[in-house]
Amino acid sequence: MSSIKFPNNFLWGSSISAYQTEGGNINSDYEQWGKKKGIEVAGEASDHYNSFKEDLDIAKSLNHNAFRFSIEWARIEPQEGRFNKDELEHYRQVLQEIRKRRMKSVVTLFHFTLPNWLAECGGWENKRALNYFIRYVDYINENLGESIDYIVTINEPFVYCLHSFLLQDLPPGKKSILKLFKVLFRLIKAHKVVYEQLGSKSDAMIGYSKNVPYIIPYRKKNVFDMLMAKFLDFLFNKLTLARLSQYSDFLGLQYYNRARIQFKLGGDHLSLFNEWGVEMVEEDRKVTDMGWEIYPEGIYHSLKKLGKYKLPIIITENGLADSEDKYRKDFLRDHIVNIHKAACEGVNVIGYLHWSLLDNFEWKEGKSKRFGLVKVEYDNNFQRNFRNSSKYYAKICKRNELVVS
Ligand code: BGC
Repeated sequence: MSSIKFPNNFLWGSSISAYQTEGGNINSDYEQWGKKKGIEVAGEASDHYNSFKEDLDIAKSLNHNAFRFSIEWARIEPQEGRFNKDELEHYRQVLQEIRKRRMKSVVTLFHFTLPNWLAECGGWENKRALNYFIRYVDYINENLGESIDYIVTINEPFVYCLHSFLLQDLPPGKKSILKLFKVLFRLIKAHKVVYEQLGSKSDAMIGYSKNVPYIIPYRKKNVFDMLMAKFLDFLFNKLTLARLSQYSDFLGLQYYNRARIQFKLGGDHLSLFNEWGVEMVEEDRKVTDMGWEIYPEGIYHSLKKLGKYKLPIIITENGLADSEDKYRKDFLRDHIVNIHKAACEGVNVIGYLHWSLLDNFEWKEGKSKRFGLVKVEYDNNFQRNFRNSSKYYAKICKRNELVVS
């Protein structure tokens, strides 16, 4: 038996987002867009809006010392320019309850959903969205800033654009490469401006979160696979990282899987990569309920990539859909071992937040995919039930070390 130790004050915890858990987000664009399309929407989600104290007690009982959640812009500003004080009070309470439990707060300001009024006038495609975002962020900072430890301005800008303007499973559900990049650059700008404007006014550390898959060629010696993998790595990872890292106090890493790229001409697949004549292939390895390959070594490589920017890194998401809790314990162990390996090689990792504390609304897949350390009984009054893996993780959080047998 050996044990691997983490630095004092390491952040251990979990992540959620507002639309995916709160319930009742009727003014959010996904709710209306989804209803129009006739697909499942979050609806009551995991009822976290009403159960947030219980959920924070759960996190505390699992020895978490940090909690990531997002503020739903549509609650704060349900109509253009009209700010809702009651909703502000709600989030003030959430932050107070986090502090009471001696936990650090990591607050995301935009996690994939916009207020309806903004979506109706073009969302992020509209130039004015930038000013609207800054106004909303200022309002949050003026009123709640003192209680926030870490701010994540934008959750996964590239992933958001990919799903909204190509894969069509986030609103506005369009298909246009031009719009994808237009919005991506607007989000990059939004982050920069917020960083510059808030930087001097706020005590919080400001960063953004980036999904960094480990992208490699499928056939190691095939020049086309290699070039395509390099190109996609640039597009998916480096393009935003290079632009935003100079405007961040920390980086949020979100790691789910690796992508093995095979160059292929033609094909009738739907994914972005296939449309460009490549395919993401998975080996015969364990896969999650999402069909994603479990590849813990990839988090080490992604951390090394981020390490180059010499900023503190919080893993703001890493997890799996696993309704039977078959793999979660090993998943946690193997990812944490790889995180430790990167840390030993000098990468400044300061925290790990598992996705997710609770089962939640997994966008296109709805509530069928279970990412929670804690199960939510959707048909039984949203009762919370601990999964075994949550106890395993709780021990790691408590000891600040992982015992490997
Ligand atoms: C998103 C989450 C999502 C998770 C699992 C991340 O990219 O930030 O909202 O639930 O992936 O798909």
